[in-house]
Amino acid sequence: MPSEWTKHRTADAAALAAARRVVHTRGMNAKPSAPACERNRDPILAVLRAHFADRRDVLEIGSGTGQHAVHFAAAMPQLVWQTSDVADNLPGIRAWLADAKLPNTPPPIELDVDANDWPAKRYDAIFSANTLHIMSWPQVERLFGALGRITTDDAKLAIYGPFNYDGAHTSASNAAFDASLRQRAPAMGIRDMEAVDALARAAGFALIDDVPMPANNRTLIWQRQG
Ligand SMILES: C[S@@+](CC[C@H](N)C(=O)[O-])C[C@H]1O[C@@H](n2cnc3c(N)ncnc32)[C@H](O)[C@@H]1O
Repeated sequence: MPSEWTKHRTADAAALAAARRVVHTRGMNAKPSAPACERNRDPILAVLRAHFADRRDVLEIGSGTGQHAVHFAAAMPQLVWQTSDVADNLPGIRAWLADAKLPNTPPPIELDVDANDWPAKRYDAIFSANTLHIMSWPQVERLFGALGRITTDDAKLAIYGPFNYDGAHTSASNAAFDASLRQRAPAMGIRDMEAVDALARAAGFALIDDVPMPANNRTLIWQRQG
């Protein structure tokens, strides 16, 4: 007979697994499509243009549909944009990459932060959007704990999404979103910017920019300090 704790953990794991499956619609050509990506891609691109102009090898963690990847890789052809995600999301990413036919988007790699199977390559930039509130906090810790292994000495890290500051939500809509996440799975939820920054600092990264974005999101940029 499973204990209450075990039942809770099992339900939580199932909800986390469900959250990994990209919420999307499918267009005529059967590619997954997340409308939020269409809305936020240009504001994010403006930040990445400023911070990734001198970068070459980007690893995106939790690429989702792959829409961000094709938009950013097309706009910044100097970058090699490596997509990654859990296995379930790779076919959709492949479909976007195949349609876009860009020279700078290698096939996606399977990367589940739980698997502890990190790429051997070192990247000079890491990008991740809307992932930290979907991952559990131990998964977020694992992601940051691996940064030293997968980045170059001066790598930049760009994370887009909602964050709390000083222990508080930054808007009523973020508070409602946070509540809905925690209802789906108690392990999900909007993260405290200061707690994430502490993980980054422990990994040797210093915060170099914190950009307000539309819809109460932020793009946080850190750089590895040698
Ligand atoms: C809300 S979606 C965001 C997708 C995309 N980055 C975007 O902005 O549209 C959350 C993403 O986090 C990924 N994710 C969740 N848990 C993960 C894990 N343990 N390892 C790697 N990726 C994970 C999901 O597979 C999904 O692609």
